[in-house]
Amino acid sequence: MASTEEAVRTERSALQELGRRHLWMHFTRMSAFDDDHEIPIITRGEGCYVYDEHGNRYLDGLSALFCVNIGHGRADIAQAGADQAKELGFFTNWSYAHPRAIELAARIASLAPGDLNRVFFTSGGSEAVESALKLARQYHKLTGKPNKTKVIARDIAYHGTSLGALSATGITSLREPFEPLTPGGCHVPNTNTFRLPHGLSAADLADTIATRIEFEGPDTVGAVILEPVQNSGGCFTPPEGYFQRVREICDEYKVLMISDEVICAWGRLGEWFGAQRYDYEPDIITTAKGLTSAYAPMGAVIVSDRIAEPFMHGTNTFTHGFTFAGHPVCAAVALANLEAMEREGIIENVRNNEGALRGMLDSLRDIPIVGDVRGAGYFQAIELVKDKDTLESFSDEESETLLRGFLSGELYRRGLICRADDRGDPVVQLSPPLIAGPPQFEEIEAVLRPVLTEAGERMRAHAA
Ligand SMILES: Cc1ncc(COP(=O)(O)O)c(C=O)c1O
Repeated sequence: MASTEEAVRTERSALQELGRRHLWMHFTRMSAFDDDHEIPIITRGEGCYVYDEHGNRYLDGLSALFCVNIGHGRADIAQAGADQAKELGFFTNWSYAHPRAIELAARIASLAPGDLNRVFFTSGGSEAVESALKLARQYHKLTGKPNKTKVIARDIAYHGTSLGALSATGITSLREPFEPLTPGGCHVPNTNTFRLPHGLSAADLADTIATRIEFEGPDTVGAVILEPVQNSGGCFTPPEGYFQRVREICDEYKVLMISDEVICAWGRLGEWFGAQRYDYEPDIITTAKGLTSAYAPMGAVIVSDRIAEPFMHGTNTFTHGFTFAGHPVCAAVALANLEAMEREGIIENVRNNEGALRGMLDSLRDIPIVGDVRGAGYFQAIELVKDKDTLESFSDEESETLLRGFLSGELYRRGLICRADDRGDPVVQLSPPLIAGPPQFEEIEAVLRPVLTEAGERMRAHAA
């Protein structure tokens, strides 16, 4: 008879087999899982840490995917969902409401900037962006400007994968397999001030939006969608005055300003919303992820009174919806999450420790491969360069060797989950749970320093 340990091992390998045979993982090369490479199966979490099926512990330096803001393993947040499921497991927001959706909408409105008081729920971030883009189109139709259908976004920005949201996403490799896309997506330079486009200064970046609106024809442009800090490319922060100028441009051309805060809200930047950190008032905020700290899937489109107003009269209706959006269990979880965040001073923790996180990352600048460190709050990136003096970046083939051939696996092997990404130039991104502090930053440094040093040595040997 097999010992308990053997039985567990057999069961674990069965899970690997079943995963390989049946699970279709997202944005994942399924062929990468062979005899030498297991699917990383995460089985439980506690605070800033998660554990895999073998019991190995990892520091979750990415909050799973920029979303477990309050940390893993919170029985109280789970309990809020369970209690709600017993009371009312589900009812829809199509024609009906339920108490948790109403309470959560009011709570979100009380936290959101300016007059963003109307909340349309979704089940995630792509649905939120999709809904915001459709809302912008219908708003312009209702207010007599039916041709304002285009959306301006930024190069390399990620706004989701559904076909409408994908037209705003500015990453060629994600768009190209699905062409032709929904028409109307236009792109302008992002705020990568480490590598400014030729001939542009940081102060010019906002005006590229005005130039593009003029180029497209102001009567055809309905919305601009921007993240407060752009994730893809590696945490591009805005130059001074950028969003204030974008606001002026949107007002001048009667274009809706959408702040895509799927990552940047709920404390990630040390405020409830990224727009508050950079002091601007968008017309619409799209959000998801940290709203529930990912204990349940939920997103939201938060709309200003001015933009919602035409929908509130007579037979006018926002002709759009999703069965599960505003699900009572998710809403109860979100309410418990926001309450706990406030009670426990989670956002204050980010403000108090942002300097320490950044200081630790800046201290890695002496490593030859570290070209730049940037970001805000608990949302930071390290850009890796081939040559520190010229800032030359790695070729696509070199990035592949660097990121997939070494870094991603080695960081994970040493117990750190973070993101090694090359949707722009190669970066390592860190976005730890908002409860993290100096002990976790020390652990991150203890992994990053040797691994980045070795990565640089390997790439020099690779080039030789
Ligand atoms: C800024 C932004 N918008 C939209 C999305 C899409 O969200 P989801 O993956 O929940 O559909 C993401 C996901 O990371 C995001 O970062």
